[in-house]
Parts: sequence; structure tokens; C-alpha cells
Amino acid sequence: MKELLYGYYGTRIYLPLSGLSRRWRRFTIRIRKKEGKFLQQVKLPEISWKRCTTRRTAKIWEYEQANGNIRISELGVINMIAAACEDETNIFEIGTSDGRTSLNLAFSSPLNCSIYTLDLTPEIDTKFPLASGERHMVEKETSGLRFEKYRKSDSAFIAKINQLFGDSALFDFSPFYNSCSLVFVDGSHAYEYALSDTYAAMKMVKKGGVIIWHDYGIWEGVTRALEEIEKKEKIGLRNISGTSLVYWKSEG
Ligand SMILES: C[S@@+](CC[C@H](N)C(=O)[O-])C[C@H]1O[C@@H](n2cnc3c(N)ncnc32)[C@H](O)[C@@H]1O
Repeated sequence: MKELLYGYYGTRIYLPLSGLSRRWRRFTIRIRKKEGKFLQQVKLPEISWKRCTTRRTAKIWEYEQANGNIRISELGVINMIAAACEDETNIFEIGTSDGRTSLNLAFSSPLNCSIYTLDLTPEIDTKFPLASGERHMVEKETSGLRFEKYRKSDSAFIAKINQLFGDSALFDFSPFYNSCSLVFVDGSHAYEYALSDTYAAMKMVKKGGVIIWHDYGIWEGVTRALEEIEKKEKIGLRNISGTSLVYWKSEG
């Protein structure tokens, strides 16, 4: 029951209000001609979340947002998209953090979906420099800390989650090619990573599957990479209104 209340609040109240607040902040930045560090002007066309899923009610687990987690509105939208994934397919997340989104993907998706979540741990060397200001998200003691709370009570859901470790620019994604009904890109925010993670995601997504990126319009490297890809490839990337999510569906 509380999961439905959080879902209602996240998608029907928080989402439109946070969308308005970002629009206002972008407007004031534009008239003051001052670029905000964690807010850029955006060029991708918008799409309502209602055009990204046929679901109209979201459920949300782990309401409390920790540093590095996505917003509750974004979690609600992703959970509705995950709920509509085809059963027995893979869902891949780049960037685990404390596992809040992986956990929600496990609870929301059909029972026989497998969730793979890749994370960079502090001792792993990276191919490209990380964006300045994001190292603290890597420097954590445990990836997927939130899984422990549910390991006994919801073991069937936790068993869906497979943790992987490595640098996404060096990781071998080939076992997942054409197998994912949903790929969530939320790893490093550096431009080079946003580009290389996008190309990996494009290879992993199956026909009719969806890719979601986080932090568009928030981290400069992500914003620039996605706008460049759209300008060059014209694939129809869309910013989900009121969020920093970008949506793309592969033709089925
Ligand atoms: C913003 S957090 C992810 C948040 C998580 N997806 C959520 O929704 O709660 C970014 C995560 O990406 C990981 N990361 C950063 N650079 C990476 C890389 N090059 N390869 C894989 N993971 C990376 C960090 O360790 C961190 O856990």
C-alpha cells in the first residue's frame, strides 16, 4: 500500500512540481546569462511520461533518497516502464550506487526478468577520467547496500539481481547484446562515458526495448553527449517532461 502512495506522490505531485521548478531555474539562468554548474539549457524535444508507458500507476520501494540516487518522480516513471517489460528478458543498469534503482527494477519487472547492474568500485582503474565532482559516488564501501534489507524477506526478488563490477568503458557487454528490454544508463557523467555507455546500451537493447538515461540537463557531459548523438544520428531521443530522464525506444 505505501508503495502505491509513494508512486502516486512521485509521479502525480512531485514530478509536475519539480518540472516547473527546473523550468523556472533555467529561465532565471538564461536571463541572468549565468550558467549553473548542475543545470544546463536543454535542446532535446520533450515527451510526457504517459507516452513512454501504458501504465498509469507507479509503485515505489525505498522512498528515502540518498546522495547519488535518482528523484522519486524518475523512479516512478522507470518502475512503470519496467513493469511493462517482456518477461524472461534482461534489464541492465550502468551505475549501481546503493542499489535503490536496481531494487525497484527487481520489484517492478515481471518475475522472470534478470536485472544486471554494473558498478565501478574505488580500486578499479578507469579508461577515461571521471567528471569532476563525481568521485565520491565511486568511493563507497559497498555497492548495492540496500539489497541486504530485503535478502531474507523478499529473496525471490533479490535473486533477480546480478551485480557486476568494472569500468563501463572496458567492460565486455557482448553477452547482453540484443537481450535487454530496458537499459538504464546512470554511471559516470563524463562526456566520454556518456558516449561510450550509450553505444553499449544501443547494442544491448533488444527490438522493442527501451533505453533511459539519467542526468540530462544536470551534468554537462551527459547533456552534451546526448545532444550531439541526436544531432548526428537523428534517432529521436526525447527528454521526459519534468525529469532529467531521456527516453528512446528501439523499433520493434
Ligand atoms: C549516480 S550513481 C548511480 C545511481 C543509481 N543508478 C541509482 O539510481 O540509485 C553513479 C554510479 O556509477 C558508478 N560509476 C561511475 N563511473 C563508472 C564507470 N566508469 N563504470 C561503471 N560504473 C561507474 C559509480 O560508482 C556510482 O555507483
